[in-house]
Amino acid sequence: MSGIEPFYVMEVLKQAHRLAEKGRNVIHLSIGEPDFQAPPSVVQALTDAAHAGHMGYTNAKGLLGLREKICAFYAKNFHVTVSPEQILITTGASAALTLACLALVEAGSDVLMPDPSYPCNRHFVAAADGVARLMDCGPETGFQPTALQVEQHWNQNTRGLMIASPANPTGTRIAADELNAMAEVCRKKQGFLIVDEIYQGLVYDRPAETALALPAVASGFEDLIVVNSFSKYFGMTGWRLGWMVLPERLAHDFEKLAQNLSICAPTLAQHAAMACFHENTLALCEERKTLFQNRRDFILGALADIGVPVPAKPDGAFYVYADISAFSESSVQWCSDLLNATGVCIVPGTDFSVLNGHRYIRISYARDMPDLEKGMSLVRSFIQQR
Ligand SMILES: Cc1ncc(COP(=O)(O)O)c(C=O)c1O
Repeated sequence: MSGIEPFYVMEVLKQAHRLAEKGRNVIHLSIGEPDFQAPPSVVQALTDAAHAGHMGYTNAKGLLGLREKICAFYAKNFHVTVSPEQILITTGASAALTLACLALVEAGSDVLMPDPSYPCNRHFVAAADGVARLMDCGPETGFQPTALQVEQHWNQNTRGLMIASPANPTGTRIAADELNAMAEVCRKKQGFLIVDEIYQGLVYDRPAETALALPAVASGFEDLIVVNSFSKYFGMTGWRLGWMVLPERLAHDFEKLAQNLSICAPTLAQHAAMACFHENTLALCEERKTLFQNRRDFILGALADIGVPVPAKPDGAFYVYADISAFSESSVQWCSDLLNATGVCIVPGTDFSVLNGHRYIRISYARDMPDLEKGMSLVRSFIQQR
């Protein structure tokens, strides 16, 4: 436990709650969850499932009907064939990542991951008694690793690579050819590749992709685990539902582990999630995606006006990773001062980046336009007055 670090973001949030309790209006550009509710069709499906009494456990893999819909989604959108046997429905991407680490990481072995990345990844690995080995990834590669870097960091203790595309906190993606080259390195080293695609549907400048469609996979690379979730694109963070796509030969082992660890993912949420793949639900989510894109463009424009650099343009998720090193040596202090002075809550990069987080902040634009406009105008006056 002493190796598990606290979530420093929570300190900023605690400070924000204290201010709110004193009656201050706090604008949260901090939280990694959509301001949209779950689509109405999904809420209706939940109510129907509850009235129909679907309240017992499902099997550990999840409802077959839902797994079939996920397979159809991959076939339609990405022309890849996966069988329902390869799908495991989980309690969010969080449980999928935990399961993957518990199943694949041996005590004392290493897992490579970029710095910056989603902080819980380090702790999923630690929970399996493994060691997260960070690769310093800068703006020149969109804060994502390159295949060369992966190869250079791989040692005899390394079991695999964990990445996300688009990523949190940067909103950047890995180009398909680079990702393919990383899969080839993993194949050569006989390691695994976990690709977190939780923000897959929230992409703006080029179409959505999946690692399942990589040439390396088509030519037989088997140790790919793809993670996804209903949390972000479908606006269902609290429903705690995600899924993973497993290599056929590992599916049974993962199922055994899932049976023991959680029995199954929430049943009502599973029934409701079947409505996610209706045409009308997807059309609504696509409309919301356009709103996110407009918000991203607004934030990028506002930061450029204020003179806060965004060294790698985000093309997915709902985050902007901005460099405040010209204004402060400590992003924690800067965020705390900003909050006290203006009521705008933005999180420091320190949770996401052990190596360089003091230079960066993560702005979440999962808020409506009036909040974003007010927030950016307050950031502008805060910077100008210092
Ligand atoms: C990259 C990434 N992976 C996983 C998660 C966990 O998501 P879930 O709600 O599906 O457990 C998050 C949540 O913010 C995330 O940003």
